[in-house]
This record gives sequence, structure tokens and C-alpha cells, in this order.
Amino acid sequence: MSTYRETALITGASSGIGRELAKVFAKNDYDVVLVARREAALRELADELIENYGVEATVMPKDLSTREAPRELFDSVQAAGISVDVLVNNAGVATTQFFRDASFEDTMNILHVNAASVTGLSHLFLNPMIERGHGRILNVASIVSFVPTPSFAIYGATKAFVLSLSEALSEELKGTGVTVTALCPGYTQTDMISGAFQETGYAEIESLVPRFVKMTAEKVAQEGYRACMSGRAVHITGLPNQLSAQWLRYQPRWLVRSVGGMMARMRK
Ligand SMILES: NC(=O)c1ccc[n+]([C@@H]2O[C@H](COP(=O)([O-])OP(=O)(O)OC[C@H]3O[C@@H](n4cnc5c(N)ncnc54)[C@H](OP(=O)(O)O)[C@@H]3O)[C@@H](O)[C@H]2O)c1
Repeated sequence: MSTYRETALITGASSGIGRELAKVFAKNDYDVVLVARREAALRELADELIENYGVEATVMPKDLSTREAPRELFDSVQAAGISVDVLVNNAGVATTQFFRDASFEDTMNILHVNAASVTGLSHLFLNPMIERGHGRILNVASIVSFVPTPSFAIYGATKAFVLSLSEALSEELKGTGVTVTALCPGYTQTDMISGAFQETGYAEIESLVPRFVKMTAEKVAQEGYRACMSGRAVHITGLPNQLSAQWLRYQPRWLVRSVGGMMARMRK
């Protein structure tokens, strides 16, 4: 007799936080659908999850930077007969270039991957969840969702968008059996952060960030999983990040903005 397992679809599962989230869900007996562009990395992860946890792992390579991507992914999932119980919008890209210096293509790419695809996938997967009377959406925002971020302008803006969307949906969906959680990690050791520092030529900044602030992708994923399962609306990872977010809330916005601007100009 086969037992029913719930399914979690995780975007950006080929590396970093998404890869670790896929492992946590599989460890907790979820079948997984793994989405990103790098198919080989997804296949390797799928094999590992099948072998270690005996779950089903489906690989769906997809570039989420196009307008059509959310609809195409949703249709592929439907065609495969998979019903998604948990949607994890984790895929993301960043640039540390000034807005005026980044190319038009990179700028629109960030907007599509970090904000439009999150919106589209949430919209498409939500109604089947409501019809079933249960489901969870975990959106990976950031600690920078709470502050304006000069030199990360478009990245920070998309993360503020994700936080705002998630909080509003978590209220709209009360009583439906569907929860929405915004996960707000701080500095997490992944390809994204090392890439961002290399981009500005400030690899040494890495060594200046205090060790107690840095988190592993594994720890962030574990906290994200727990927050998602408890249906919490917002979760900031790690005590140091929670304290800084709280502290920032009590500072005048002009001050936070100006200090961010000064630091960005110094880096440039
Ligand atoms: N690292 C941090 O300090 C930090 C802090 C706060 C929030 N976050 C957020 O955490 C999430 C995961 O980032 P990470 O730190 O784990 O970085 P990462 O290791 O670079 O992972 C990013 C993931 O997004 C996927 N992705 C990028 N562009 C894509 C596209 N066009 N289509 C489909 N998938 C795409 C990548 O897969 P492919 O390249 O294979 O497509 C990869 O799996 C992001 O939303 C990021 O903003 C990170």
C-alpha cells in the first residue's frame, strides 16, 4: 500500500539556500519538485534525495526570468499530475552595481526572477491550494526587505516587494487553510554573496563581517522550514539579524537611508 506524501516545489534548488531547503523538505518526508536553470545540479540533488530519504524528486529545469515562465512551469507541473502542497519561492539574483551602471538586461532580469516570478507562481498555485483547503507558500525575502539599499537598489526593492506581498497575502488567506511566510535571511554564505562581493571588487568585506552574523545555508533552511510549517507570517533568521531589524525600526528612515548611501559611495 502506497502512502500519500505531500509535495514541495522549490525554485532555485540548484545551490545555496534552495538546495538546503530541498534537503530539509525531503528529510521531513516531502516529495520535491526541483526548479532552476542548471539541470545537472538539480539531477545530482534529486539522486541524492531519492537515495537518502526515499522520496520522489522531480527535476523541472526552468529559467524564471521570462514573463511566460510561471505559467509554463505551472502547466508542466499540472501535466505531470503533481499537486503542490508547499510552494517555495527561493530563486533570486543580485547585483551590487549602482542602478545607473547595471545593464538594462540585468536590471529586468532581477525584477523578473525576484519579484515577477514570485507573484506569478504564488497566483497560479494558490487557488488549487485554497480548493484543497490546505497549502503553504514560503517566499524568500531578506533582511534588506526592511531598509532602502543604495548600490543594491533593485535587489532591495524586489525584496521589500516580496515581504509586502507575503504579509498582505498571509492576512487575506486567513481561514482558507493556506499560509504565507516571508523568510528574511541576513548574511548567508552562498554563491550569491561571494558573487556580489566579487562584482564590486570588495572581497575583503567578507573578512570584515563578524563571524556571529554569518549563517550557513543549512541553518537558514532549517529555520525557514520551521517558520513555514508553523505558518508564521515573517521570520528573520538568527538572533543578531532579528535584533538589528528591530533596532533599525526605531531609527529615522532618513538616517538609515543616508548611512546606506554613504557606505555605497565609499565602496564605489
Ligand atoms: N545569501 C544571502 O546572504 C541571502 C540573504 C538574504 C536573502 N537571500 C535570498 O536567498 C535566495 C537564495 O539565494 P542564495 O543565497 O542561496 O544564492 P544562490 O546559491 O546563488 O542561489 C540562487 C538560486 O536561484 C536560481 N536562479 C537564479 N536565476 C534564476 C533564473 N533566471 N531562473 C531560475 N532560477 C534562477 C539559481 O539557480 P540556477 O543558476 O541554476 O538557475 C540558484 O539555485 C535568493 O532569493 C536570495 O535573494 C540570500
